[in-house]
Amino acid sequence: MAAPQHRSLLRRIPGQDASDGAGVRLKRSIGSTPALRLDPFLMLDAFRTDNPDDYIAGFPAHPHRGFETVTYMLDGHMQHRDHMGNTGDLGPGSVQWMTAGRGIIHSEMPMQRDGRMRGFQLWINLPAALKMQPPAYRDIPADAIPHAEPAAGVQLRCIAGHLEGEGWRLSGAVNASGEAATDPLFCDLWLAPHADITLPIAEQHAAFLYLDEGAAKVGDAPLELDCAHVLGEGRSVRVSGGAEGGRCLLIAGKPLHEPVVQYGPFVMNTREEIEQALDDYRRGTLAA
Ligand code: FE2
Repeated sequence: MAAPQHRSLLRRIPGQDASDGAGVRLKRSIGSTPALRLDPFLMLDAFRTDNPDDYIAGFPAHPHRGFETVTYMLDGHMQHRDHMGNTGDLGPGSVQWMTAGRGIIHSEMPMQRDGRMRGFQLWINLPAALKMQPPAYRDIPADAIPHAEPAAGVQLRCIAGHLEGEGWRLSGAVNASGEAATDPLFCDLWLAPHADITLPIAEQHAAFLYLDEGAAKVGDAPLELDCAHVLGEGRSVRVSGGAEGGRCLLIAGKPLHEPVVQYGPFVMNTREEIEQALDDYRRGTLAA
């Protein structure tokens, strides 16, 4: 049977309070348990706080192997440093796209002592064939992210992937390292009160919406704040703003259908590969 045109809400994955790094408080929705991953997405963390105690300890030096991380800052200032000598300043509206590949050691530390810190980190899996590629890092300033107003009262920023409608087309700022395999779409959508938009999504891709602010609906189903909304089958999604308007992320990608074995910051296909990652990290060769 052909998939329906519009995707509808399949399930909600509420953000759970979590702590990571040296004690940064965040809400983890996708990936809050292994059963709540959404292939190819391993995890989505959201952070939004005015209390420095929630972020001041930051994420001191730590390793990753086997996937990509996307950090999207909305408010505040963090600094990335890695073993390759990259330094990146993450400010409002900017994106950091990091391909851990065979290994990266980095820190992500706040560069402010007070004020608001708000943003997201998404982990995108890499296929077996790309897990051991050399690491890479890209820092994308806010003004380099393509944006459009595809309909009245609708603002769209396209971080990765492609979107188009009648008379408009947006291509994201980043080509993911795993693009051929996971083909990720990552966009930030603002909706004025009752504004609505229909956006295409590749039929075979997993997709979800994350409501970060205000109110919005997918079809007739209201979105909940700080919650990932997994979408069912279809070739497009229709999103509308609530009475006060709303802001959400739309994220989609092609499933890898590979076994996932995760141990903290290492995500591989087998236990043996995880043991190898731990061994490499202990010997100091993970990011050599
Ligand atoms: Fe990290």
